[in-house]
Amino acid sequence: MAKEPDLAQKVINLCSRRGLIVQSSEIYGGYAGFFDFVGYGAQLKRNVETLWWKRFVEHRLDVTGLEGSIITHPTVWQASGHAESFNDPLVECEKCHERYRADSLIEEQTGESVDGLSITSLEELLTKHKVACPKCKGSLAFKSPFNLMFKTKVGAKDTAASDAFLRPETAQVIFTNFKTALTASRGKLPFGIAQIGKSFRNEIAPRNFVFRSREFTQMELEYFIHPQKLNDCPQLTKQMLAQELLLVTQDEREKGSPGKIMTLEAALTAKLIGTRWHAYWLAECFNFLYDLGIKPGKLRARKHGQTELSHYSSETWDIEYDFPWGWKELAGLANRTDFDLKQHAAHSGADLSVFDEELKAKVVPYCFEPSFGSERLIFTLLLDAFGEGAAAASGEGSTIVLHLKHGVAPLDIAILPLMKRNGLDEKAMQVFEALKKEFRAEYDASGSVGKRYARYDEVGVPYCVTIDYDTLKDHTVTMRDRETTKQVRLPAKKLADTIRQLFAGTLKFDDAGEPVTRVEKAPE
Ligand code: GAP
Repeated sequence: MAKEPDLAQKVINLCSRRGLIVQSSEIYGGYAGFFDFVGYGAQLKRNVETLWWKRFVEHRLDVTGLEGSIITHPTVWQASGHAESFNDPLVECEKCHERYRADSLIEEQTGESVDGLSITSLEELLTKHKVACPKCKGSLAFKSPFNLMFKTKVGAKDTAASDAFLRPETAQVIFTNFKTALTASRGKLPFGIAQIGKSFRNEIAPRNFVFRSREFTQMELEYFIHPQKLNDCPQLTKQMLAQELLLVTQDEREKGSPGKIMTLEAALTAKLIGTRWHAYWLAECFNFLYDLGIKPGKLRARKHGQTELSHYSSETWDIEYDFPWGWKELAGLANRTDFDLKQHAAHSGADLSVFDEELKAKVVPYCFEPSFGSERLIFTLLLDAFGEGAAAASGEGSTIVLHLKHGVAPLDIAILPLMKRNGLDEKAMQVFEALKKEFRAEYDASGSVGKRYARYDEVGVPYCVTIDYDTLKDHTVTMRDRETTKQVRLPAKKLADTIRQLFAGTLKFDDAGEPVTRVEKAPE
């Protein structure tokens, strides 16, 4: 099952050594399922979230943003169905009473993928494969399904009425704000509300680093459409319809097939994808991931089987990545129908409909939901970008390179004085000051230049600029490319324009200046 077991470990080791992502409360021995993003890790997270926000909110006229509260009126979770149905299958060892998430344990011990199977099917598999307690080999018994919501108390009284929950998805605060946001967006369908924020799930088995944790960040968009216009999608361009994706159904997956490459148009004609709006949002999600730099060959879309669908969904596609531990969900795209708005209308008494001028009647919109977890996406980006070797070939020390795209990488450029004296540091600081307003730049004077290059390669910084004695004479600098380790010499005053053009793809690195063959070395 684990295809590249060390890749994940190598990425985790890098995160830990460079302090990008670490277990929360490390000084107390850590706290399972909780993580902290530090330094470049915090910047990486911010970059990914900013790129999502720009694409799904700022660059669209039909989407508005939201920053909702984490704790809501408890009835929200009755209405949404989470109080009743947001459960995972739980087994307990009859001997040592340790508890496990049944599906994860079966997958671990059998190597079979069991996503979406019913409790009855899981029970059958447990018996068939004689799955036992990993700790004491005792036999396992199914308990009542385990509700994943974290409970807390609100106010000074410790009564049942003061029970509240940390939100397990950001989506519900969007639904409860539907009416306000509708007014803000001139009352016209289709329109969307987007939010980036923390969600909390008391996962029985947090695992695979930040892939499944107990506190995580969701980037969710709820996009509302007239219920009779689910195929009326002018945004679905010819180019999108011709876009090819690897698509897999539950049946195909159970037979061990990876799925079929199809155009979105063919998938719509075959009724594999139910509506044109669903096809549109699939294309948008994939294009977002491609633009972040994720390798297209590592992505596919998997359609949920009937037993796997969440209580609110009529059709869900998981966008899966080929992780070291198998194809697993990176993001989700559900057609939530009118379930949530109708539920909240019924429980609150609020009118959550939209007046249709043509029909002269009120309609309750349907909702499409592209949902990304930011930590899971960052882990995917790190796995996808992880490489070894380039720097080693040039004798610069570390063998690790993160091939992150600019904009995703924590920094655009590092400014390195050859030494911290003789005016080199002041000149380097001037270059840093000139670049920092436009680019994510850093000044670093510690250690040999080779070691500094290696340090920046490890965190994916695309370019380094070195200030040496020639800079003091002729105001030229050396610029080094992370991908090739090649270096060019160019005037310092041309740096900003050069970086701009390199990022825009209008200039090749080799043409950015005079090639440098000699590697400058500072005395150790
Ligand atoms: N509102 C829909 C929803 O919450 P989901 O498939 O449960 O759907 C959406 O979650 C995304 O949130 C997932 O694709 C994943 O990226 C992220 N996610 C969910 N549970 C997570 C967890 N325990 N740890 C980290 N990320 C998680």
